[in-house]
Amino acid sequence: MAITVNGMLPGPTLEVKNGDTLEIEVVNKAQYNATIHWHGVRQMRTGWADGPEFVTQCPIRPGGSYTYRFTIEGQEGTLWWHAHSSWLRATVYGALIIRPREGESYPFPKPKRETAIVLGEWWDANPIDVVRQATMTGAAPNNSDAYTINGQPGDLYKCSSKDTTIVPIDVGETNLLRVINAALNQPLFFTVANHKLTVVGADAAYLKPFTTSVIVLGPGQTTDVLIQGNQLPARYYMAARAYQSAQNAPFDNTTTTAILEYKSAPCPAKKGINGPKPIMPFLPAYNDTNTVTAFSQSFRSPQKVEVPTEIDESLFFTVGLGLNNCPPNFPSSRCQGPNGTRFTASMNNVSFVFPQSISLLQAHQHGIPGVFTTDFPGTPPLKFDYTGNVSRSLYQPVPGTKLYKLKYGSKVQIVLQDTSIVTPENHPIHLHGYDFYIVAEGFGNFDPKTDTSKFNLVDPPQRNTVGVPVNGWAAIRFVADNPGVWIMHCHLDVHITWGLAMAFVVENGFGELQSLQAPPPDLPIC
Ligand code: C2O
Repeated sequence: MAITVNGMLPGPTLEVKNGDTLEIEVVNKAQYNATIHWHGVRQMRTGWADGPEFVTQCPIRPGGSYTYRFTIEGQEGTLWWHAHSSWLRATVYGALIIRPREGESYPFPKPKRETAIVLGEWWDANPIDVVRQATMTGAAPNNSDAYTINGQPGDLYKCSSKDTTIVPIDVGETNLLRVINAALNQPLFFTVANHKLTVVGADAAYLKPFTTSVIVLGPGQTTDVLIQGNQLPARYYMAARAYQSAQNAPFDNTTTTAILEYKSAPCPAKKGINGPKPIMPFLPAYNDTNTVTAFSQSFRSPQKVEVPTEIDESLFFTVGLGLNNCPPNFPSSRCQGPNGTRFTASMNNVSFVFPQSISLLQAHQHGIPGVFTTDFPGTPPLKFDYTGNVSRSLYQPVPGTKLYKLKYGSKVQIVLQDTSIVTPENHPIHLHGYDFYIVAEGFGNFDPKTDTSKFNLVDPPQRNTVGVPVNGWAAIRFVADNPGVWIMHCHLDVHITWGLAMAFVVENGFGELQSLQAPPPDLPIC
């Protein structure tokens, strides 16, 4: 079963230009609550259109509707949209392509063709039942049954050959692939047999071009690559495979394929079934962290950028899992984590709890008390060796709806540190309402004395989602110039479900141009 948008999977691709104002009416014909988030759109002063349920709006109830209105300001490249309600985004997602304004062009030669490559994840079950099972039993959810490219698992899966995604190219062409990781719970490697990929952008910001054979995307991230038709006219697999999955068999259900097909290839395949077998690419192993590091360290902005120096808010957030003891009088059927525990996750030991009867933004705007507190800790309550074996008591985050308040215009630095508790893991941390500069990444425990001097304050990349290295840390900087309530969370959906989130409340500045707009009249109420 799949909940789809306009009957499509992936849903419709939105193709717009920088500077466009979008008006998108969402009519909920499903039997679940739903919202749509425009992942990576800055939403300057339009937080009401951001979409995460109970953060910026109440859900659109079955039968209800809501019109999202927002303007694309100064962003070019690839973003995407997805449901931001339970695990609906398993099937409710699509590409959002932002081209330069009329009369402006890409900072690279105009590609002959452009193709969106949307990587997804598929369950042979209703994803809502999968998440329900995980929250009811306190156990880890089922692994998905397949990964997909543009909705298709590829012809290495049974019964899937005739619908395999075909991506056209021809000799002499340079084409643009807009790759999006829309999977729920997996960072993915992506590669194309025999072809190099030239990375030119990510998360709708241009990059200094660099060439690689493999790219890596955490869920939520996008990467734009140029590919040249410089090989023998034939058919080549493009493939994505999970980084850090439990399994490591080649081309099992952690690998999905599509086919890059030269127009002039001899006996072109009839939708992938006939003709010679495509050429297989090399994919890194599931635990190949070196490839991930080499890739992320190649990221540079195209020129010198304005990174905030003089920091007003220097924050340190731990990100990781935990195991809560089974509460007294709780049936053991609800505590099926290791040794009778329940899985949980936190930032700075706070496991985020979403409100259920009002959104945080409404509560903030109307000054409604009792919905959230603003005492989210700027540094962890306890410091410990984040790479070592730590005591069981540290595994137990405390639930809360805690926000961190930022003054308009404050210059913020956040060091995100993987705790490695339960398992060391690469957490893709996504901040709503902002792009940030990733000024450094490293392994081990962040050490302000030695690590700060290595920060790139000249040309760091700008992104909306950072993969915090497994067993390591990442440092980001931004200016809090967008008033509203903005959630920051791990983009592995299972981790949001377990509480790996927090939110900022950014105060208004002076006057209309530094203030959140008024809520639209059709904003869904609870
Ligand atoms: Cu792409 Cu809060 O999400």
